[in-house]
Amino acid sequence: MRILAIESSCDETAAAVLEDGSRVLSSVVASQLELHAKYGGVVPELASREHLRSVVPVVREALRNAGPGIAWKDLSAVAATSGPGLAGALLVGLTYAKAISFAAGIPLIAVHHIEGHIQAVMLEARQRGNPVELPALALVASGGHTHLYEVRETGYKLLGKTRDDAAGEAFDKVGKLLGFGYPGGPVIDRLAPHGNPRAVAFSHARMKGNTLDFSFSGLKTAVLRWTESHDLTTELEARRQLLRQDPQPSTDAWLAVTPKATLDLLASFQQTVIDELLGHAASAASQMEDVRSLIITGGVACNAGLRLAAGSQWAGLPVYFPTPALSTDNAVMIAAAAWAKYGRGEFAPLTEMAHPNIPLA
Ligand code: KG4
Ligand code: ZN
Repeated sequence: MRILAIESSCDETAAAVLEDGSRVLSSVVASQLELHAKYGGVVPELASREHLRSVVPVVREALRNAGPGIAWKDLSAVAATSGPGLAGALLVGLTYAKAISFAAGIPLIAVHHIEGHIQAVMLEARQRGNPVELPALALVASGGHTHLYEVRETGYKLLGKTRDDAAGEAFDKVGKLLGFGYPGGPVIDRLAPHGNPRAVAFSHARMKGNTLDFSFSGLKTAVLRWTESHDLTTELEARRQLLRQDPQPSTDAWLAVTPKATLDLLASFQQTVIDELLGHAASAASQMEDVRSLIITGGVACNAGLRLAAGSQWAGLPVYFPTPALSTDNAVMIAAAAWAKYGRGEFAPLTEMAHPNIPLA
């Protein structure tokens, strides 16, 4: 049983071929990071255009890498992310998948992007021979989402979500504000261990109503206030120059243009986000009586500080993280979710639409 999957919801064009639910035959990711970096964030029109340029070569490469002679006729199904994400970006991958489905006469599977992030972790656990025990609690933290879900054999239930910025978005906004380019998450991750995480005391958002919801806009504003009360002119200019010379500076290069006070700020910011994420995960776990494991996934799951803080046990539960390659957007995760849907016979019609804001049921 072979599934070809395509992911194009944001700024990565990706394709993968998965065999029998756990053998990854190929995975190709074409990142648009450099294209968007100079604008300090993803520009939707540029993303769609770039997906259009990349989707055919990326799918061809994924098929070629899957093995000699593997072609459309050897596929059991074709899957694509149908939402949530940028409308124009989603349309590119989904439309190409529909065309392959029609031309090859194989079923189409529409995948929810967040289900992909969750299923990536389940796939890797199966590969290690240590499947994630359900029901699980899943924390999905990325550039677009910060959500807590109950994961059962029967489906997903939303327990809490961000009311404003996503965790990754907060990393990116703070990174941009302090002149570290885009995306800010990976840079802050590398610099945070050089600062004191207790140097700046940020307050935690107090949520009215659902206390499992998140809010990161107050933290972002607090960082903005900090930048206004410090004279950063010299260091900001130094970082601007560094980025002009090298779009991907090394940690040492960043450290050379980042004074201790700013490193302390970054460390404190990151610590506050980690405390917020893991604190909510612990509360959610205590509300879910029969929970057996904790899944932490999405781009922010790459964060070394978060991985260290969660460890292999959190709130009394075994913790499952994806490997870094499957943390940020990729198509293996879409294939993994599609494999589960294939088993349940959940196919999509050729009239399937892109759903930019669809919730995970
Ligand atoms: O899952 P992803 O690739 O795309 C979305 O679905 O949004 O996540 C990208 C996000 C970006 O906001 C990026 O800054 C963040 O994940 N990210 C990180 C790290 N690596 C990526 N945030 C914190 N620490 C990291 N190491
Ligand atoms: Zn994602």
